[in-house]
Amino acid sequence: MTWKEPFLIKNLTLRNRIVLPPMATEKSNHSGNITSQVLEYYRKMSLTGVGLIILEHNYIHPMGRCSPNQMSIQSDLDIAFHSELTSAIHENNTPVICQISHAGSNRLAAVFHESIGPSEIPHPVSGLIPTACTRSMLEELKNFFCQAAIRVQKAGYDGVEIHSAHGYLLSQFLSPLTNQRKDEYGGSWKNRVRLLTEILSEVRSHVGNEYPIFVRMGVSDTMPFTKEPNGLTIDDAACMAGILEEADCLDISGGMCGSRPSTDAGEGYFLPFAQKIRASTTKPVLLTGGFVNLSTVDSILDRHLVDLIGVGRSIANNPNWLKQQN
Ligand SMILES: Cc1cc2nc3c(=O)[nH]c(=O)nc-3n(C[C@H](O)[C@H](O)[C@H](O)COP(=O)(O)O)c2cc1C
Repeated sequence: MTWKEPFLIKNLTLRNRIVLPPMATEKSNHSGNITSQVLEYYRKMSLTGVGLIILEHNYIHPMGRCSPNQMSIQSDLDIAFHSELTSAIHENNTPVICQISHAGSNRLAAVFHESIGPSEIPHPVSGLIPTACTRSMLEELKNFFCQAAIRVQKAGYDGVEIHSAHGYLLSQFLSPLTNQRKDEYGGSWKNRVRLLTEILSEVRSHVGNEYPIFVRMGVSDTMPFTKEPNGLTIDDAACMAGILEEADCLDISGGMCGSRPSTDAGEGYFLPFAQKIRASTTKPVLLTGGFVNLSTVDSILDRHLVDLIGVGRSIANNPNWLKQQN
């Protein structure tokens, strides 16, 4: 099999297996509105030949915003901006799904002082100490995710991706470093993934059975080659992945360690993790990280190790990347 094989996820047909992963442009205005620069960037990305674009993280509530120029999907007023963006991308026959996110306590500490999280523990990256979510706050959160997913659908996106990686709120719930709750949302892996599974079922009930839902899952708090891993382990994450019934695709990335190692770790550095997740689920798996050669992508697809491959910086830095490699 090569990258040219099409792929079907629910009612979404991808013309090939290459996905542009979510990459924050930080070009929205201070109200989170999409600017002409953002439109121009995604128009360019829609001509790269990828099978799917996953739009960058959008905050679902003002308290869940991580940076001043992050894109917003927190209000119905955002729908018109997003509709313009989906039309521009669809004009070039490229499907696009939208990533929705709550930053929890992983906000730019220099800008945002208040935050929420699973427990009152300093965030390992931002240093912010959040207010621990009460049960009624968890109910509100589920509603914010659902309302955002409905807006995504109304704006014409081909699917939605729930951000549960990179130390943001849902990743904080998965991790024992930030989640030390004593109720049924903390402790065992089953409890730590509970909020995510509840959000998934509620989003599903609002968007319908045929609408693709991706989950970007931070599957470990440390990179695969770390000697003394701590925090969320890949073994716990594999158990969690096995019960994400409502997800249509698992998009593998890091937890507190983020998406990119500090030194060059080679192409497909999350492959050992992706394989562990694949062994524990029947869902399609998307692997991203470090790809610079299409031949490496093909060798992974040909061995059926994963279903889809994300190529971010190579394509963002050179929109002709895919065409030049043909
Ligand atoms: C500038 C930049 C912004 C990013 N923003 C996001 C984001 O909004 N959401 C997300 O899940 N990952 C984000 N990522 C991580 C990418 O999706 C991807 O996992 C990472 O860049 C590794 O893939 P690559 O080596 O192909 O670039 C970002 C990465 C970069 C370089």
